[in-house]
Amino acid sequence: MALVTRVTDLIGNTPLFELATTDTGTRLLLKLEQFNPTGAAKIRMAREMVLDAERRGLLSDGGHIIESTSGNTGLGLAVVAAERGYRFTAVVDHHACKDKLRAMQAMGAELVFVADDGDDSLATSAREDLAEAMAAARPDAYFTEQHNNDANALGYYAVAEELLSDLGRVDILLSAVGTGGSLFGTARRLRELGCRPQVIGVEPVGSIAFGGPGGPYWQSGTGTPPGATVGTAVDYSLLDEGVKVSDVEAFAAARAVAKKLGLLIGGSAGGSVHAGLTRLEQFPPGSTVVTIVCDGGEKYLDTVFDEDWMNDRDLLDESTEKDMLELLDRYSPARRDLVGVR
Ligand SMILES: Cc1ncc(COP(=O)(O)O)c(C=O)c1O
Repeated sequence: MALVTRVTDLIGNTPLFELATTDTGTRLLLKLEQFNPTGAAKIRMAREMVLDAERRGLLSDGGHIIESTSGNTGLGLAVVAAERGYRFTAVVDHHACKDKLRAMQAMGAELVFVADDGDDSLATSAREDLAEAMAAARPDAYFTEQHNNDANALGYYAVAEELLSDLGRVDILLSAVGTGGSLFGTARRLRELGCRPQVIGVEPVGSIAFGGPGGPYWQSGTGTPPGATVGTAVDYSLLDEGVKVSDVEAFAAARAVAKKLGLLIGGSAGGSVHAGLTRLEQFPPGSTVVTIVCDGGEKYLDTVFDEDWMNDRDLLDESTEKDMLELLDRYSPARRDLVGVR
């Protein structure tokens, strides 16, 4: 593909990064979705939701897209709306990363903030209620409703196709669950193509998709906060195991990957990496384990990678970070290759 005419032509064919390998041939591979436009996986499903709405006659020329978003979905929809001539309103809350909001605005999106309730809990349900009410009040508007939109998971079918074309097989798919679109869409398409990986979902401690108790958490773009409803994109019939990872563990993993390998991954990907590295030796020997890295760490320089922000919330834990650094020393092929070289 030498020349493209649309930003969305650049979606997909993201690289695979070998993070860890064991003596028994098990390997943990990262599907680096930050190489998509907007630096996130969500643009895959943003495009699919809009195309699906067009096909179903729910969006017509100059129509209005409305979505509740913590950032990456909004960035994806802003690109697609700009390209296809739609108005786009993102319903956001005060937790959203400022750079993501600025980027959405740069692409012409309008932002509507839900009221700041003054606490640190995620405002997912308030955002969704407002987006739904706004769309209901405007005849030309379409609420994409990512949590309950079948096109969300469909947007990730290409991830499965890319994985099979690059690897031939996936034995274990281990990834963050927010709406569920990326993990379950990929898993479903893998199955359709004859590959039946073990599917392990990862959510923050405090998220309720794999059971309670609910509580606050800082991992962004993932999980289901207490009070929010688990959407239809979470397909429990495809799930073999649900794992919970604390903010401290997820962020320690993301920080360790940055320090050891120079690779910036987001906090939710840190959660999956923590789960993958700590159980690597428990997977059947020779397993190919794949984690979808939903976005890069560049979006979290003010949070996960900021010492003051981390300290203020009691999220820095030296011993957890040291454990992660040691696991990377032991398992990262790039680190092992250095032994004897220097
Ligand atoms: C930062 C982040 N974490 C996690 C996820 C997984 O979310 P979902 O389950 O909605 O696909 C995404 C989606 O791309 C994301 O952007």
